[in-house]
Order: sequence, then structure tokens, then C-alpha cells
Amino acid sequence: MSQVHPPSRAPSAELWTDAQTFLKAFYRETRRSGLPARLAEVAGELARSGTYQLTSDELAHGAKMAWRHSARCVGRAYWPALTVRDLRHIQTPDEVFAELRAHLKAAWNGGQIKALISVFGPGVRIINDQLIRYAGYGPGLGDPQNAALTRFLLAHGWQPPGQPGPFDVLPLAIEWRGQVRLYSLSAEDVQEVKLTHPTCPDFAALNLKWHALPVISDLHLEVGGLRFGCAPFNGWYLQTEIAARNLADAQRYDQLPTVARALGLETRRERSLWRDRALLELNVATLHSFDAAGVKLADHHSVSRHFVRFEARERQSGRAVQGRWSWLISPLSPATSEIWHRPYQEDETARPAFVRAAPGWLDSGPVTCPFH
Ligand code: ARG
Repeated sequence: MSQVHPPSRAPSAELWTDAQTFLKAFYRETRRSGLPARLAEVAGELARSGTYQLTSDELAHGAKMAWRHSARCVGRAYWPALTVRDLRHIQTPDEVFAELRAHLKAAWNGGQIKALISVFGPGVRIINDQLIRYAGYGPGLGDPQNAALTRFLLAHGWQPPGQPGPFDVLPLAIEWRGQVRLYSLSAEDVQEVKLTHPTCPDFAALNLKWHALPVISDLHLEVGGLRFGCAPFNGWYLQTEIAARNLADAQRYDQLPTVARALGLETRRERSLWRDRALLELNVATLHSFDAAGVKLADHHSVSRHFVRFEARERQSGRAVQGRWSWLISPLSPATSEIWHRPYQEDETARPAFVRAAPGWLDSGPVTCPFH
């Protein structure tokens, strides 16, 4: 490979190293020719301006690599199928919001959920950690995990719809130039599935439901040394996320006791294993309901099998798979999968990657413009 001389200006030394590492991987993985010319071009751009631009193809492949590197994600087998929306030209909050609605629509795809990422320009960020979140109003009402976000939104002028309920969709807080603006999603933006049980008619009366799309909106995408602070992405849910954690955890919706009662289980003795039975039936109900509604949802057995296959494919491609065991194993019947029996190592320096930033509701500026 021909040698390209590094740009001379100072702050870009690290950026130049990161750019080279990424571009080499991009050309290698996509079997392209022309790497030396591209490196020379980037070197020139860095020397002139101190930074550089990725092409759309580079950005798209970089986003896929970031998914592939996500140590906590058990759904990584599908990384090549990620659809990337290059929206780097968009950075004003109104336009961002319009594109977020378009993202939700395209990802929903009539229930045949598509893995999608929208990459926006600099200077804008979404405070919410996911595009769709239910308000947490305090003990017993809503999703306690979102209590801090809910307080933030209330302090910035959000008014809950009439009587606060357990599943009130929070507005989006978009920050731009130090100003926070709130935007409400409409019912058609937020597809939800009501939960019923295939054999227990009383289950429906619990009025449980969940939204179809998990769209993570607070991680930064890092590709080739460049950071994209507004790059929301989604896959599709795995039933255990909803039924073994969100609705079941004692510190979340805490529904195991109510589900057990609906099922007529004997809850006085731990040794009746009513918790385990309720948990299992909540998972059965979630899979059943999403299937009946025609909404894509993974199950833990299939996704674990696909993950093991992904590991094998990666090894064949000469790449090491990093992972965080405690996130990869299923919270339901974990030892039924091979993942349980394997060791995993996490490499936090792997790039491209989705990188965690401080929660926006902790460090966002005080200036507000409520509701747009
Ligand atoms: N566990 C998170 C939730 O329940 C979603 C994380 C992303 N999940 C996914 N299937 N892509 O909301």
C-alpha cells in the first residue's frame, strides 16, 4: 500500500489516525479499490480544514460496523441489513422532528419493522434516550425508568394529557444552540400492541401494552474519528425486553403479581413458583399479541441461535466478536442457549461504535421554548 503523508496541522493527528483505520477497514470489507487516492484526499481535507467529511457510503458502512461492534446487542446478526438515512444536511429542530416522524414511519413499515438509522448534522441532539418513552410520574404510575426524563419535560412546559396514565407517550425534547424545544408525537407515529393471552381471557383486562419500536436516540455514532451526536437508530423488539424486563421488573411496571392473579396462581408461597409462571405467561402473551397484530418481534431462542451463527460468520471473516455476557444472555431460561456457556470479552475501544454520552436531562441548558 502506498504511503500517504499525514497532514501537518496539529489537532487532527488523532483524527487522521482514526480516519485511516476506518477507511482501510471500509475499503477492505467492501472490497473496493482506490484507497490510496481516498486517503490522500482526506489528508488534504484535514490539512486544509482540520476535519473531513465521510461519503454517504462510508457513513452507511460505518454505521453497520458500529452495530456489529455493539457488545450488548444480541441481535447483531442482522447488521448488514441496516438502512442508513444520511441526513447530515439537517440540523434545525423543526426539520429534525419532521425527519424523526419519517423515521418512525419507515421503520414501522406496516409492522414488518426495518432496522434504520438517521444520521443528522452537528449541533443538534435529542434529550430523550428513546424516541418513544412512557412517562413515569412516581410510585405506581407509568414507567419509573423515565422518571427523570419526565421531570425534565414537565419542568420544560410539558403538560400530561388530561388524567395521567400508565402509558402516556412523552414528547421529544430536541436541543439546538442551547435551546430545548418540545415536540409531541401523534398517535399514528407511535404504533402499539395491546397484550392478550392465547388461553387466559382475564389477561386482556390488565390493559397492558407496549410500543412496537425501540428507537435509541441518545447514543453518539462514532465513525472514522468523527462523532455524530444525533443518530437515532432502531431494530425490532425481542419479547424478553418487554415481558421479562420492562413490564416485569419490580423497579419498572412490576406486573408479575397482577399477571399471577389474572392467571389464578397461588401467590402466597414462593415455592409455587408463581413468579416464574407469571413471567413465562407474560412472555407467551407478548409473542402471541405481536404475532396476532402482524408486528415483528424476536424471541429469545431464535435470536440466541442467530447470534451464535453470527459469531461463527465473524470468525470466518477473521474478526473477533466482542460481547458483554450479562446483556447477551436471555433473562428468561438463559441456560437453554449456548451463549450462557461461552465467555465473552468487551473491547470498549472498538470503532466504529455507538458511544454513551451523559443523559441530556442532566446537562442540558436552561433556556426553553415549549411546544412546537
Ligand atoms: N431494552 C430496550 C427497551 O426495552 C431497547 C433496547 C434496544 N432493543 C432492540 N431490540 N433493538 O426499550
